[in-house]
Amino acid sequence: MLRQGIILAAMALAGPLAAASDRPEDAAGEFPYWDEAEVARGATLYAETCAACHGAALEGAEDWRGRNEDGSFRAPPHDETGHTWHHADAQLFAITKFGTEEVTGGAVVSDMQGFGEVLTDDEIRAVLAFIKAQWPERVIARHNELNRRFEAQQQ
Ligand code: HEC
Repeated sequence: MLRQGIILAAMALAGPLAAASDRPEDAAGEFPYWDEAEVARGATLYAETCAACHGAALEGAEDWRGRNEDGSFRAPPHDETGHTWHHADAQLFAITKFGTEEVTGGAVVSDMQGFGEVLTDDEIRAVLAFIKAQWPERVIARHNELNRRFEAQQQ
């Protein structure tokens, strides 16, 4: 009984993102990075909405580890050389929707404004699925593991 409950809970978390057969067994989190149509949609949205700051090839701003004159951060890369993959899906989603200033309670002030007025929740998930789909397999595997740990902590 308990076991069945756990399986049902896991299925509820996985959500109606894609047919179960499309979803890799070890996938975790909210972004359908395995879904080609969603990733293609995310690529277009990324080019239109994020590339100006984060780079067309996800490479980040030039000298991104430095600070701007006003002390604010520069846009980090979204490829595996940055730290996007150090954050669980729920955190990446919140940063993209609300902006870092709101998510950190004003601790980080930057040009990373929220895109909640520009993109629907589904579009935000598609952009982040596109970003995740660009990472090497081993980084995707580590990020899935991080999502599993994060979700376990939330319960
Ligand atoms: C006007 C410039 C600008 C645009 C456009 C922009 N960002 Fe950012 N973004 C930044 C800056 C600067 C940072 C680093 C400072 C911070 O975290 O607030 C950042 C940080 C982030 C982070 C946190 C990364 C980390 O490792 O901590 C995420 C996630 C992110 N952006 C996603 C996006 C997505 C997705 C889009 C497009 C929908 C986007 N950004 C568009 C400037 C931008």
